[in-house]
Amino acid sequence: MLTPPGASARWATMAGMNPRTFRIAPSILSADFARLGDEVRGVIAAGADWIHFDVMDNHYVPNLTFGPMICSALKPHAKTAAGAAVPIDVHLMVQPVDALAQAFAEAGADYISFHPDASAHVHRSVQAIKAAGCKAGLVFNPAASLEVLDWVIDDIDLVLIMSVNPGFGGQGFIDSALRKVEHARKRIDASGRDIRLEVDGGIKVDNIARVAAAGADTFVAGSAIFGKPDYRGVIDAMRAQLRS
Ligand code: DX5
Ligand code: ZN
Repeated sequence: MLTPPGASARWATMAGMNPRTFRIAPSILSADFARLGDEVRGVIAAGADWIHFDVMDNHYVPNLTFGPMICSALKPHAKTAAGAAVPIDVHLMVQPVDALAQAFAEAGADYISFHPDASAHVHRSVQAIKAAGCKAGLVFNPAASLEVLDWVIDDIDLVLIMSVNPGFGGQGFIDSALRKVEHARKRIDASGRDIRLEVDGGIKVDNIARVAAAGADTFVAGSAIFGKPDYRGVIDAMRAQLRS
């Protein structure tokens, strides 16, 4: 049975279908930077679906992380033991956007997301990311409106809702993000397009089910996973919450 274009997740559930495939995307912002290749392989062996790569420029956000050379160095590590590629999900917290987006496309990024308020020409930045062969995403800070989606939803592959202010790992989840996820889910379903709805910041085993219930399908988790010695234990516990 096919889901009609624009059908809601609720419709699909009522029809007995699994409306969403969940993805868990550990953020290597909380990994051991002295052993990044090992950390990427370790978290993939523990069940990670994507690798979330937080790029901070000490300008758009008050912190500085890593650039395209590190992405390129990690690309060969982003695969399963069987050799299947694991997507690298680049979250740009940089301003301006376009030159770095291009550099990350060349460095092997699969998804490249940026904050619309960091680009003077959002539509152009989205097109440039897609022309470089990547999937394009837009990221919304806790106080940012979703209105720009009215004009670019036909062009993007991912919506990323920030549930913390960007710049640091280990912050507390901001509850108003749940309402924003609900709004984003409605817009995505109405578009009829295959767009991932990702949430980033403060996600733990004990709140991931609420985030999914609001409509998210992709979950970034940094400190929750890398802060514990048993990565698989955390990822399995998150998946158990998503099934319940
Ligand atoms: C924050 C980053 C997040 C961060 C999440 O600016 O975008 O991806 O790593 O970290 P936790 O899961 O610890 O809140
Ligand atoms: Zn992030």
